[in-house]
Amino acid sequence: MFNKPWSLIRFYFQCISAYFRPGATWSVRTPLNLGLRILYWFCNWCYFCFLNTAEVLAFAGHGSLRVQDRALYRRYRFPNQFWIALTEGLKVERPETLYRLTYGETSWFGIRSALKAVKATADDIFYDLGCGTGRNVFFARIEYGMQAVGIDLLPTFVNHANGVVQELNLDRIVFHEQDAFQTDLRTATIVYVTANCFDQECLDKLYQTLAALPVGARVISTARPLAAPVLRVTGSQRQFFSWGLDEVFYHERI
Ligand SMILES: C[S@@+](CC[C@H](N)C(=O)[O-])C[C@H]1O[C@@H](n2cnc3c(N)ncnc32)[C@H](O)[C@@H]1O
Repeated sequence: MFNKPWSLIRFYFQCISAYFRPGATWSVRTPLNLGLRILYWFCNWCYFCFLNTAEVLAFAGHGSLRVQDRALYRRYRFPNQFWIALTEGLKVERPETLYRLTYGETSWFGIRSALKAVKATADDIFYDLGCGTGRNVFFARIEYGMQAVGIDLLPTFVNHANGVVQELNLDRIVFHEQDAFQTDLRTATIVYVTANCFDQECLDKLYQTLAALPVGARVISTARPLAAPVLRVTGSQRQFFSWGLDEVFYHERI
């Protein structure tokens, strides 16, 4: 239960020590800035502990999901997912556009209410475009029994997730290392995308990718509604994420 809060503290120390490396570009220039950053991290850590504990209690009866989550996060003790996104991200993105790969996670509360809102069933085919550790994908597969696909640019995320699939002998779930905007979505019926850090270039590519969806497919996006011509917004709701409360938008392919 305490794995995740500890790994987050380790991540903060890694960040601070990175500032002191020779040649590092300081984003924290004064002691006041550093103090404020540490205060922000502390608040974020308290929130993360609260969310983690609430999930453990609320999903206590969901044995298979808990077993899967433990198997997954054993792989992220060190380095954790936040550090992996930073360091591996620099191999696939330029420093100026690294913000596109900023890491954060949807809570189980968030993905549960999102799937409920789009009336998900076992017959759906779920895609998470930019799946990170793959938590949402495992949730869709284990809680709903639907076929589930996770897509991420970063190989460690995909390898760890596929490792859990093998370890737990799960079927109808797979993770691919690829650009989300190159994904063939012709068979998808539910698409989930964390769009918080997408700039206009990413959004344009995303809209093109979503055009391949079959009519009636549902698209769930975080932070912003998607202005793709083929989508109609059907609702929105606030939910819990690792970075705090945020808006979730629901769409239908028309
Ligand atoms: C904010 S995390 C969200 C993780 C997960 N979807 C969740 O909600 O818990 C965004 C993830 O998208 C991935 N990502 C960003 N741009 C991508 C792209 N063009 N193709 C594939 N993955 C991408 C990043 O590597 C990162 O793991």
